Amino acid sequence: MEISMKVNGRAVDDDVEPTVVLVDYLRSELGLTGAKVGCETGQCGACAVSVDGRAVKGCLALVVQLDGGIVETVEGLAPDGALTPLQQALHDEHGTQCGFCTPGVVMAMTDLLATDPDPGEAEIRAGLSGNLCRCTGYQSIVRAVLAAASQGTADAPAEEAASDA
Ligand code: FES
Ligand code: FES
Repeated sequence: MEISMKVNGRAVDDDVEPTVVLVDYLRSELGLTGAKVGCETGQCGACAVSVDGRAVKGCLALVVQLDGGIVETVEGLAPDGALTPLQQALHDEHGTQCGFCTPGVVMAMTDLLATDPDPGEAEIRAGLSGNLCRCTGYQSIVRAVLAAASQGTADAPAEEAASDA
């Protein structure tokens, strides 16, 4: 089926099989390997990407459902290598260890901060409920999200947010 969408600001027009899921398409066809394939059943959140501004699980979304959509992956958040405040905070607070869950956590928490720029710990933990992390125990991830929220512009490059402060 013919589809047309934007991925990280780039127009993508393609003919895809109706059974292809978004995370597989991004990784195999577009070379965007930031989103990870974990459970493939919607449980772990490692595959999370943004579709039309909301975090979705890429293993549950068929590409053909996304015709006309705007997709952003973790690669699109920092196209020039400048980390967002959230990414920087995850680094600073040791919110990532093996890193397998991290792209999904970044996309889910970027969505959270866009809809609730000043979340409390309870809101952050609720927002993380769809993202499994086997390494960190979540404490450091929560600290990082709180730190990013305190800086305001969660999806701007870290230096830009700092200079805005
Ligand atoms: S791979 Fe999609 S939720 Fe686990
Ligand atoms: S950092 Fe390893 S699963 Fe989260």
